[in-house]
Amino acid sequence: MRDRLRIALTKGRLQDQSVELFEAMGLDCSPIRKPGRRLIHSIPNYPLDAVLAKAPDVITYVAHGACDLGIVGKDTILEHGHPFYEVLDLGFGACRFALAVKEGFDFYSSYQTRRVASKYPAFTRAFFERKGMDVSIIKIEGSVELAPLLDLADGIVDIVETGATLKANGLVPIETVAPVSARLIVNTASMKLYKSQIIDFIEKCQRELERAR
Ligand code: PRP
Repeated sequence: MRDRLRIALTKGRLQDQSVELFEAMGLDCSPIRKPGRRLIHSIPNYPLDAVLAKAPDVITYVAHGACDLGIVGKDTILEHGHPFYEVLDLGFGACRFALAVKEGFDFYSSYQTRRVASKYPAFTRAFFERKGMDVSIIKIEGSVELAPLLDLADGIVDIVETGATLKANGLVPIETVAPVSARLIVNTASMKLYKSQIIDFIEKCQRELERAR
């Protein structure tokens, strides 16, 4: 048993909004705002230690119980599955998964096997399986918008926020696949072991989300 909860926060896009939420809840986040070279940040006025990690690592830490809680995008959850509880939709980081193609390309009328590039291959495969479509999935790590431009793929499945990246590259969204936003996740064993502390934290989050609504 530990006397402090551990939370993994997703670095980058969701990091600032996670910290802003915590500060609005009254948590002193100065150690996260000025991390130096330190990797574990102890909140001075609440029994919580925070680590910053890439989105798939947040899932790994929480799934294995290395962290009790995590904040991660629904996009990463949809790709990696649910070996944990998803307890709150935090609302921020809102965007959508979309299927996009080169402007003018008729994706659905081709009889050939379509090639679709994505950073989310499992999610993309499941989407086309539900449609009963034969699609070849190409895993891309970086800017997936490049794949149709280089004729590596006929389309992409990726997150779209403002649509600016698609537009700047002559691509158009043709179907929304799923809505995405940041979620609070909890390790299943931690939920039993640290029930009162975790409920206290979830309720604090909920109160602030309701107040800000
Ligand atoms: C995401 C996504 C798109 C872009 C969409 O990438 O993969 O490229 O944002 O945003 P927009 O609709 O507002 O243009 P991100 O910037 O998170 O970087 P990444 O490629 O490193 O994931």
